[in-house]
Amino acid sequence: MSGRIIIGVTGSIAAFKSLELVRMLVKNGKEIDVILTEAGERFIPKVNFKSFTSGTVASDLWSEEVNQPIHIKLSKAASILVVVPASADFIAKAAAGIADNLLLSTFLAFNGPKIIAPAMNPNMYKNPITLRNIRTLRKFGVDFIEPTTGYMADYLIGVGHLADLQDIFDYIEKYERKQVLKGKKVLITAGGTREFLDPVRFIGNPSTGTMGIELAREFWKFGAEVKLISANISKQIPSYIKNIEVINSEEMLKVVRKNFKASDIFVSTAAISDFTPRTPKKVKIKKSTDLKEIKLKRTIDIIKEISKHKGKKKIIGFAAETLNLESEAEHKLIEKKLDLIVGNYVGKNRGFGEITSEGIILGEKTRIEFSGLTKPELSRKILEVILQVWY
Ligand SMILES: Cc1cc2nc3c(=O)[nH]c(=O)nc-3n(C[C@H](O)[C@H](O)[C@H](O)COP(=O)(O)O)c2cc1C
Repeated sequence: MSGRIIIGVTGSIAAFKSLELVRMLVKNGKEIDVILTEAGERFIPKVNFKSFTSGTVASDLWSEEVNQPIHIKLSKAASILVVVPASADFIAKAAAGIADNLLLSTFLAFNGPKIIAPAMNPNMYKNPITLRNIRTLRKFGVDFIEPTTGYMADYLIGVGHLADLQDIFDYIEKYERKQVLKGKKVLITAGGTREFLDPVRFIGNPSTGTMGIELAREFWKFGAEVKLISANISKQIPSYIKNIEVINSEEMLKVVRKNFKASDIFVSTAAISDFTPRTPKKVKIKKSTDLKEIKLKRTIDIIKEISKHKGKKKIIGFAAETLNLESEAEHKLIEKKLDLIVGNYVGKNRGFGEITSEGIILGEKTRIEFSGLTKPELSRKILEVILQVWY
């Protein structure tokens, strides 16, 4: 689906956030028209949006002097309509079919996909009248991006906070894509495990989990049901992704085993420790202890272990290497019965936590070298390969 995107802005305190969303969308090549309600315009004058989009920015239903009214013109050109933020008042009027302003008229005239991201005071959101209005609109096929719990304008915490802008952006992209992975279940591991020596010290690694999160986003946008198993990630995980948190390699193995059976694709991006202390201490090792060595034992290789029960499932592995990347990745591809492997160079200023990465994607019939790709770009490339080769 491609066409213009209408962003509707209503009279919520969160209206300023829609400016950043428009900026993100335009930066990513989308064509945006903005419709403000009268209250929305009190918060953000049109000129702000006009600085970001060359599309229409309008609020007046009666402004256009053409034979085609503006709400019909805008709705015909659009492929998706997103109201962000949506006030309780807008939701109530839309649910009742009221069309007494430009945004409401366009909402009613437009018969493509409609998304609403509410933002309001928790009492307004939890009010049974608002909840009923949301249910009514849902019944008519309108999609809602639920508000989160966070600090409100009065500095109190409650539900009603506008959803994360990146999540709203992802919803829009999902609607633009063919849902070729609908019905597929994808299990992704991300982050880095921690093997504790005592309650306060561990063997770890600098993995941030970004690769796993970005891949989760991409799979989801193509319609897959994604579950993430995350180890020690401090980054925000998209609200639409199911997430199970683990700490060490043993827990990771347990949770992967439990969820692998029900999945169609398993993607292992997590940096899982190959070693763990043989006898972790229950109390903190004293500084005064004459500690000369730490006895380690090998951890179980998760991919090797689960690929024994692979069946028709697809497995994607990652290899972080400092040297001989291609031969090491090829060896892992065969040894671990992978369907695809993404080899990354790591080391000083390379790999973990870096903005761009370089490496190679290998499969039975795939050999693609890449460099200078950000993690979102690399995720898109990996999905391109998957869709071309497997589906
Ligand atoms: C300072 C201020 C902040 C407001 N914030 C919100 C809000 O976050 N969510 C909401 O639903 N209404 C909020 N309201 C109330 C709406 O602006 C009001 O209901 C208005 O009629 C909405 O009009 P609209 O739906 O046409 O945009 C706020 C009002 C004021 C004065």
